[in-house]
Amino acid sequence: MLVSARSFDEYRAMFALSDDDLGQRVLDCPGGAASFVAEAGARGVDAVGVDPLYGPERDVLGALALREIEHKHAYVADNAEGFVWDWFGTPERYTRLRAESARAFTADIAARPDRYVAGALPHLPFPDRSFDLVLSSHLLFSYGAQLSEDFHLSALIELVRVARREVRLFPVVLHTSDHRYPALDQLRAALDALGVPSRLDRVDYAFQLGGDEVLVLDAAARGPLPATRPGADARDPVRWRHLGAAAGGVGGAASGTGAAPVPGA
Ligand SMILES: C[S@@+](CC[C@H](N)C(=O)[O-])C[C@H]1O[C@@H](n2cnc3c(N)ncnc32)[C@H](O)[C@@H]1O
Repeated sequence: MLVSARSFDEYRAMFALSDDDLGQRVLDCPGGAASFVAEAGARGVDAVGVDPLYGPERDVLGALALREIEHKHAYVADNAEGFVWDWFGTPERYTRLRAESARAFTADIAARPDRYVAGALPHLPFPDRSFDLVLSSHLLFSYGAQLSEDFHLSALIELVRVARREVRLFPVVLHTSDHRYPALDQLRAALDALGVPSRLDRVDYAFQLGGDEVLVLDAAARGPLPATRPGADARDPVRWRHLGAAAGGVGGAASGTGAAPVPGA
C-alpha cells in the first residue's frame, strides 16, 4: 500500500460533493497526503483528516507521497491503456496535479496541524456523530485483497458511528483488478441489518477502469450499533512500502509488500 495525494477537485467528483455537502462538517478518512482538507479549509469548509500516518511520520508524509508520485508516473505512462484519462488527460498532467496536491497537503499540515488527527480504523478517536459527512477513498474495497471482510465490516461500522448524516466510499473496486470488492453485497446487507441502508451511485470521475461508483451509507436513521463489533480486533495487515523506505522503517513496516506499483491507489 502507499500514500496518495488526491486533490479537492478529485474528491468533489469522486464523492459527488454538492455545495450543501461542503457546508457541513466533513471527515476525510484516510486523509493520506490528499489536499482535500487543505483546499476545503481554504474555501471555509470545516474539514478534518484522520490517518495513522498523522503521528510522528506527519513531517515526512508529503515527501513520501512525492516519491510515490514520481515512482508511479513511469508505471502510468507505460500502462496508459489501463487507466481512464477523461479526468487527467495525460500522464504528465496526472503527475503534476498529484504533486501539487502533495505540496498543498505539506503546507497545510504544517500551518493547521490540528486539522490532521492520528488514528486508524477500526477505532477512530472521535465521539459518535462528530461529523455530518464522512468521506473514505482508496482504502476499504481498494485493498480488499489484503484487508479482511471482518476488518471491512468493523471499519464501516466505525465510519458510520462517527457520522451524523452520510458516509461515502470510493471506489468499490479492488485496486489491482478493477473488479468490484467481492463481499460488497454481504457488507451492505450487514449494514442494512443495523439500520444503515446504502446505495451505489455512478459519478463523473474514474481513473481506474470500472472505478466510477461511490457507495453511500445513510447513517442518519441508524439505531444503536453493536457494542462489540464483529472483527473489531481485526488488525490492519498491510505493510507500508513507503514507510519501509523511510528512516529505519517507521512503525515496524520495514518488511514491505514489495516494490510493485499499485495501479489504482
Ligand atoms: C491510498 S491512500 C489514500 C489517501 C487519500 N484518501 C487519497 O485518496 O489520496 C491510503 C491511506 O490509508 C491509510 N491507512 C492505512 N491503514 C489505515 C487504517 N487502518 N485506518 C485508516 N487509514 C489507514 C494510509 O496511511 C494511507 O494514507
